[in-house]
Amino acid sequence: MNNFEQYINDYLNSLKDNHIKDAMIYTMEGGKRFRPRIIFAIMKGFNLDESLSYDCALALEEIQTYSLIHDDLPAMDNDDMRRGKPSCHKAFREDIAILTGDQLLTDSFGRIASSKYIDSDAKVKIIEAFSKYAGLDGMIYGQLLDVTNTSETIDPDKLFEIQDNKTGGLFKIACLTPMYIAKNDEYDYFVKLGSLIGQIFQNQDDLFDLIKSEEETGKNKSDIQNNKGTALSISTKEELIKIIDDEFDYLYEYLEKAPFDSGYLKDVINILKGR
Ligand code: IPE
Ligand code: IPE
Ligand code: MG
Ligand code: MG
Ligand code: MG
Repeated sequence: MNNFEQYINDYLNSLKDNHIKDAMIYTMEGGKRFRPRIIFAIMKGFNLDESLSYDCALALEEIQTYSLIHDDLPAMDNDDMRRGKPSCHKAFREDIAILTGDQLLTDSFGRIASSKYIDSDAKVKIIEAFSKYAGLDGMIYGQLLDVTNTSETIDPDKLFEIQDNKTGGLFKIACLTPMYIAKNDEYDYFVKLGSLIGQIFQNQDDLFDLIKSEEETGKNKSDIQNNKGTALSISTKEELIKIIDDEFDYLYEYLEKAPFDSGYLKDVINILKGR
């Protein structure tokens, strides 16, 4: 992971100087890098060096960062804090924040296409997965459902659909990317794996809005303030803790059927469980 952080920094510092470069460096800093960790763990499970996936992991972290910059904008969640510091539109300007998000998204495809470490066939399939699950079959669709859901009550199926898209989308990409690099073809297994991890991740995120401080999470509790439909709209704190526990049990069971050595991924899931 230290090498990956260095890889991100070296790349960003190599860009030509301008305000967007500055905002990219500012916003990319401080993420927990859970999606890259998942890519690297599955790579190792396939007996492959994690560094072969660095360009793809960088691309995914760019999409993650862009999604957060835009999620924080006044037109969306209107959050002033992200990754423990003022959000992009506060530290720079709203117009620069929009463009920085646009650039991170645009650049992500270039990172994959120009990678020296994977072959063209894998690149095409990975780019296709990025486009699908960061777009209207994933993150963008989930964000659309999130911003258009104005009622305070939300049924469990709708909540699942929002979470499985807005958060599950990028975790599906994290699981499919090493699958393509390893030339495995158990697509359904990896999509479901991403979905299970995404579900847990968003349930935890909603729970943390209630039980952790803004200092701990590094961001505001806007979804509570804005009465957004979240996991806490349909469950009490105790119920949600139990739901998350059950989801972890199911995930560990699912990992027993993995078509790769799942020990490395279990280590990452343990970190998720302990957070
Ligand atoms: C935040 O993701 C958005 C959600 C899907 C809840 P992370 O909690 O992974 O945020 P960073 O990347 O570490 O900042
Ligand atoms: C957004 O979910 C997930 C994204 C696709 C960005 P949230 O709105 O709950 O994410 P946070 O809590 O602001 O990180
Ligand atoms: Mg949001
Ligand atoms: Mg938000
Ligand atoms: Mg949240």
